[in-house]
Formats: sequence, structure tokens, C-alpha cells
Amino acid sequence: MSKILITSALPYINGVPHLGHMVGCLLPSDVYARYMRMMGNEVLYICGTDEHGTASEVGALKEGLPVEDYCNKYHESHRKTYKDFNLSFDYFGRSSSEQNKEIVYHIFEHLDKNGFIAEKTMKQVYSVDDKMFLADRYITGTCPHCGYEKARGDQCENCTKILEPTDLINPRSTVSGSTNLEVRETKHLFLNLPKIEEKLTEWLKTKEAFWPDVAYSIAKKWVKEGLQPRCITRDLKWGFPVNKEGYENKVFYVWFDAPIAYIGITKQWSDESAERNWKDWWLDAKDVHYVEFMGKDNVPYHSITFPATLLGTGENWTKVDYLKGFSYLTYEGGKFSKSEHRGIFADDAIKEFPADYWRYWLMANAPEASDSSFSFESFAATVNKDLNGVLGNFAQRVMKMTASKLGSFVPQGGDMTEVDEEFIKTLQDRADDYFKYLNQLEFRKAINELRAIWVEGNNYITKTEPWTVIKEDEVRAATILRICLNTVRIYAALSAPLMPDTAEKIMKKFNLSTDDLPLLKDFSVSKEINALKAGTPFEAGEALFERITPEQLAEMQQKYGGQNV
Ligand code: MF3
Ligand code: ZN
Repeated sequence: MSKILITSALPYINGVPHLGHMVGCLLPSDVYARYMRMMGNEVLYICGTDEHGTASEVGALKEGLPVEDYCNKYHESHRKTYKDFNLSFDYFGRSSSEQNKEIVYHIFEHLDKNGFIAEKTMKQVYSVDDKMFLADRYITGTCPHCGYEKARGDQCENCTKILEPTDLINPRSTVSGSTNLEVRETKHLFLNLPKIEEKLTEWLKTKEAFWPDVAYSIAKKWVKEGLQPRCITRDLKWGFPVNKEGYENKVFYVWFDAPIAYIGITKQWSDESAERNWKDWWLDAKDVHYVEFMGKDNVPYHSITFPATLLGTGENWTKVDYLKGFSYLTYEGGKFSKSEHRGIFADDAIKEFPADYWRYWLMANAPEASDSSFSFESFAATVNKDLNGVLGNFAQRVMKMTASKLGSFVPQGGDMTEVDEEFIKTLQDRADDYFKYLNQLEFRKAINELRAIWVEGNNYITKTEPWTVIKEDEVRAATILRICLNTVRIYAALSAPLMPDTAEKIMKKFNLSTDDLPLLKDFSVSKEINALKAGTPFEAGEALFERITPEQLAEMQQKYGGQNV
């Protein structure tokens, strides 16, 4: 058993997550966490809301709420949404927690003591009309790299380049739209990346063989282009006040405290029980394998600035072993937009269809190698074909046939034949491939394999024709159906990381629960095919999935297609 630490990038607290957020780190990390648990590992799966920074201040301002209340409100709404999607976090915490503040202060003090913090007087954009310095998202303008006109002061959404507010061309205040801006001098603290560079590149080198190419090449490109000191303080009210003399009126930059919150949230988890110790996972921790999930725009922070922050302390913090980045999901080829009612957001999605329908479509179409596009047409086709037509149909058909011909229990039957052994071997080979892809975090390939495993069941029953055989050889028909019923249970086990509710539903039909599922470690089809003994009762009950009708499809497209302006 190994210890596997899993984190999903912490979603910004402002606003409701859409399907792109779901598939961009949250869902894949959950599938992986569930899989790793079923492989018999000790898993700690951490997430939470990313609460500081201008995005929250702007959001709170818009809603007329104090920023603390605003964050409390949206923290609960995030929590509920993720629960609805069955995300199995061991802890869902907050970057604004006292525990995180403690760790942020600790890390900062060590960086400072070791000489990795630089003080610099810098020029910053001051809005005369708003009477404030405009940090990050408080300022909008044209990206100097790609010309995108709505680039934010901290990052260009279009080309993903990280920016300083003073880089923007034609800047304006996000708060008031005012262009009455001046550049004034103010003192800030910087993480001295060039000074940590040597340690960092040394560490990076040890990752080359393990990280996926995309992540590694982003990190290398950053180093090659020359590391710059990164400003880690801001002139804002909402955030952790800087624990250094002369900086009491400033707070830490959100991107300084957010990744540290993986640790802070683990401490929240740890503080709830005497049996838990956050240090076993993070500080001088032994045998921890740490896997991070994130959108590709987050890769520089997780491969460069966060590791550099940890390295600079001189302490032995757990650093990322594998970093999985995702591209973007679009809605019918365009952007999701809450204000324009275009695209489906997680809170609405769950009201329309069960979680597993979404989990399946999203993971089967995860934007792994490149962007992918959600459409209701594809969603309906996938639900109808793969879920309803293949998996659901197999389970229902097998149970109904057995019930009507032999009774509602697993039949005795006789010995297996060559066809049966062949089927078992095919399932085993495919299951091994499925595990191989999941181990490599290749989700689309894994799900392709899972679908193929379901198809094999239908192939087997078509080939063996128990409905014909039963007329002449009841024992043989019973053997076939016994194998099929056990296959249904095997499908529950294999599908459980991806579709936990469906696995539960299947097990319920046998009057069992997911607690009765076997581990996937050393999963042996020839063993599991005999797990349900003759006489085990079952109830076919309702179908596992419902078809999405053309009328429903049209309704969805209309409802979430966006206002035509
Ligand atoms: N909130 C950021 C985003 O959604 C991700 C933060 S990841 C963390 O892009 F590590 F910093 F927390
Ligand atoms: Zn740009």
C-alpha cells in the first residue's frame, strides 16, 4: 500500500463552476482518487475554495455583501455542487482558513530568513477616481503579447501569459471603467526566483522522466525564458496581512497563498481528529506520491512558483510527483457564459440529469490532448448509446431473461466451456488495459477500454444465445446466465471510480452495496466471475439509465443555447 496525495486545483470562489471547470481538474481527480482507493492505497484527496484576491472583492462588491459573507455563501454553494457530483474529497476546505494563514506565515518567514524575499519599490497603476491601487483583475487592458483586448492585470485569458498590471496597453479600471490612471510608486515583496533557480532546475531535472511532456515543456520553457522575481504582496484589504514590518497594510497575493492552501487545508482536516497528522503527508513525509490536477493555465504556478516557494524554505516539503494538466472545454465550440445564459453550469446540470451521465460524458471527452467541445447532441447520443444502449441494456436484459426463464436468483448451471473461458480472457485483457491507462492518467483511453468491456458482454450473450439454448439445454443456459449476472457485478466494480451511483444501483439489485465490491488490485476476472454464488437473489427493477428523447434534446439546446443578442 502506498500513500497517494491528490489535489485538485482550488476553484475560485466567485461564481458557479461550469462543465469546463468540472472536467478541467475536479472530476478527473475524483476518478483517480476513487480508483487509487480501489487499488488498495491510502489516499488523501484535498480540495477547497480559492478565496482571496480581487476576484472575490469585485464579486462581493457587485452583490453588496461584505467579502467574508460573500465567501461563506459561495463556499457552501461550491460544497453542495461537488457533493451532488459525488466528488469524494477527504476534505474540502478554504484558502482563507486560520490553518492556511499559519502555514503561509511559516513558509514566508523561512523564505525571508533564507534570503529569498526581495523588497522592491515598484511602479503601480493607481486609479485617481477609485482612490486605490489597481491590482490584478482590478485593471483591464490589451495584452502586449497577443493583442487580446480584455486581458486582466494578472493574466491574459487568451494566450495564458502571466502579466503585471503595468504591462497592459490602454489600461482601464475594472471597478469604474475609469481611464484616469496614474503610475505611482509603492513598495512590495518579491519571491526571488532567480536566486532559487539553481535549486529549482536541479529539482525539475529529476521530474523529466515522470511528468507528462506538456507539463514538463511548459516548465522548461519558463526557466529558459528567464525567471523573474514574482511580486507576492498586494495593496488590498482581503487576504492574509503580510507578517513583516512595514508591510502591515498589504496582503499576500492570492497566488502565493492558494497553492500553500493544499497544505493549509490538509491541516484543517488534521485538526479535526487526533488520529490525523498533516505532516505525515507534507513535511518530512515518507513514501508519499503526490499527484496534482489542474487546467493548463495553472501549470506554471504548480511547476515553477509553488515548488520554488517550498524549496526556498530549506525544509523538506512534499512536492509534486505527477502533474496532470487539462486543456479547455468549450460549449458548442464557444465560451460558457453565465450572464449570456450560454452553456450549462454545474448547478443546473445536476437538476437536468443524474451525476453519472455527466461524469461519463465529461471523462470520455476530457480535453486531454487538446480542447474539446460539449454539445447536447453528443451528450444525448453518448448517454443513449453507451450508457443506455450498452451497459444498461446488458444488465437489464440479463436480469429480465434470467428472472423470466429461471427465477430471480443466480442459477446453478454447470461447468464452463471454451467460449466462456475465451470471454473471461478477453475481459481480463481489457481490464488490464483499463488499469494500465488509469495508472497513466490517460482518461479517454481508459474509458474507451471500459466501454469496450461493456460491449464484450453484449457480444458474449449474442454469441451464446441463452434464449435459444434454454429450449434444449437448461443447464447450459443457466451457466451462461450465471456468467452474465456475475459480469454485471464485474461491471459495477470496474465502473465504480467513474460512475459511483451506477455501481451502487447495480449492487442494490443484488441486495448488496458498493462496500461489497472487490478491490481492483490484482483484479482477477476468473475469480470474480464466480463471486455471486448460485441462489443469490436479485431484482431487475428499474433500468440503470433513461434514454434522452429528441424532445428533451431540443429543450436543452433551447434552454442553454444562449440569448441571441
Ligand atoms: N483558482 C485557480 C484557478 O481556478 C486555481 C488555484 S490552484 C491553487 O485557476 F493551487 F493555487 F490553489
Ligand atoms: Zn495575450
